[in-house]
Amino acid sequence: MRIAIAGCGQLARMLALAGWEMGHHFSFIADPDESTDCVAGLGPVVARDDYHEPPALFEALGRPNVVTVEKEHVSVALLEGLADHCLVAPSPEAIRICQHRGREKTALQNLGINTAPFQLLEDGPSLLTAVEALGYPAFVKSCEQGYDGQNQWLLRDPDSLAALAAQMESLPPLVVEGAVHFDRELSMIAARSVSGETALYPLAENRHREGILLTSEVPAANISDETQAQANHIARTLLEQWSYVGVLSIELFDEGGALRVNELAPRVHNSGHWSQDAGVTSQFSNHIRAITDTRPGNTQPALYAGMMNLLGREPDAALLGAADVNLHWYTKSVRSRRKVGHINVQAKDRARLQQRLAELEAALYPEGEPL
Ligand SMILES: Nc1ncnc2c1ncn2[C@@H]1O[C@H](COP(=O)(O)OP(=O)(O)O)[C@@H](O)[C@H]1O
Ligand SMILES: [Mg+2]
Repeated sequence: MRIAIAGCGQLARMLALAGWEMGHHFSFIADPDESTDCVAGLGPVVARDDYHEPPALFEALGRPNVVTVEKEHVSVALLEGLADHCLVAPSPEAIRICQHRGREKTALQNLGINTAPFQLLEDGPSLLTAVEALGYPAFVKSCEQGYDGQNQWLLRDPDSLAALAAQMESLPPLVVEGAVHFDRELSMIAARSVSGETALYPLAENRHREGILLTSEVPAANISDETQAQANHIARTLLEQWSYVGVLSIELFDEGGALRVNELAPRVHNSGHWSQDAGVTSQFSNHIRAITDTRPGNTQPALYAGMMNLLGREPDAALLGAADVNLHWYTKSVRSRRKVGHINVQAKDRARLQQRLAELEAALYPEGEPL
């Protein structure tokens, strides 16, 4: 099949690499000014702005059988136009919900899924009223275009609120969230095929540095049956209620075993990269399988698996020479804090996995050195 991907970043790269193995062909839709380094050599790249009408874009993409996305910030009108010509998966409606924090939180609430307490400023309350209702600390996030901690503000006290309120005129639509006093952050990668077959990966435990994912450990430690059941219920509810097709990623807060959804991504996710080297069907392969109506493959690793992001740095030869380390390099230029690759590691037991992640972190991110 021919598959077109909206976006040209590392997720598009890894989707295409997985799909090439299965004999699929790819084309890519590039936004103006978007770097296409990651997908060089993997298929034709079409500049969105050169084709204002969906039929012309569909032709330029090589008449794909399926259009999918590697990011949520894609024009829904464009996807709807392409949906007249071929399958678009996930659906434009799922992408419309997930690209806006307000719509996403409201959709979760309507399905009875717990989130952080929140107020949407579009609905009328002022920033002041919303923060007073939710209390400090409060997280203020732009409804759109936020990632890796961008476009969000942590308000600890009335002074920080006043400083942000002073810029209100120039701020985008916002959602305010009360702080969740979580013990840890988890995520689940879930997949559903065109025919409705589902597969869930084990919960990952994620650690961040400066608001950016640094490591994932799989399966997350000490998950009770009740917590696992909550996660499975959340994932299945979303997949089934939305008739979702493809991989859906769910970021979760774990508060003493009770889960709240932090955010959703209608795509493969950084916290699922471990699956490339863990003896399972990777999240990338399962996304391709799901959107080409193939039953999802195995999601349960036999070993403990870990992932460490390479943020603005290249690992040295000694680190890469370790037998348990696999490099995934995105062929981007290295800039401070930029995700330029990741390494995956596996171990027979959890203690060994944690030791390896600690060793790799010490080698890559020496104590005290900024990202
Ligand atoms: N309501 C909240 N309570 C506590 N911590 C939060 C809350 N919202 C966000 N955070 C912290 O900030 C991080 C980034 O927020 P998130 O909404 O996931 O944005 P991004 O799109 O940048 O990943 C989260 O992973 C979490 O550590
Ligand atoms: Mg997040």
